[in-house]
Amino acid sequence: MIGKLNHVAIAVPDLEEAAALYRQTLGAQVSETLLQPEHGVKVVFIELPNTKIELLHPLGEKSPIAGFLEKNPTGGIHHVCYEVADIHAAAAKMKLDGKKVLGDIKIGAHGKPVIFLHPKDFNGTLVELEQA
Ligand code: CO
Repeated sequence: MIGKLNHVAIAVPDLEEAAALYRQTLGAQVSETLLQPEHGVKVVFIELPNTKIELLHPLGEKSPIAGFLEKNPTGGIHHVCYEVADIHAAAAKMKLDGKKVLGDIKIGAHGKPVIFLHPKDFNGTLVELEQA
């Protein structure tokens, strides 16, 4: 069912520092900082030949990644995102298999429909499925 790895999202305590690390030390193509208030994050996109890395930093009062950074003050992998052909079919399959879907299908950071799956069902990893 799952297709390509769309991105790996890494929560970081200092977005400028993390962007510089990828740009200068790793020599990656790094975007400007983008504000996504509807998702409660500031994001830097890093384009790799085969996937993307998203550096996430909290934005606003109730950012979904604030708690994660409290528990992981130096940053850490927040979620991985796999592509699926049909988000409704994917959500139905998860529920059928007894996997916890967090919230409803919503429009994700790339303007495409996504769902999130609880880490307890996926080896401690928050999984995002995105309709490609
Ligand atoms: Co994501």
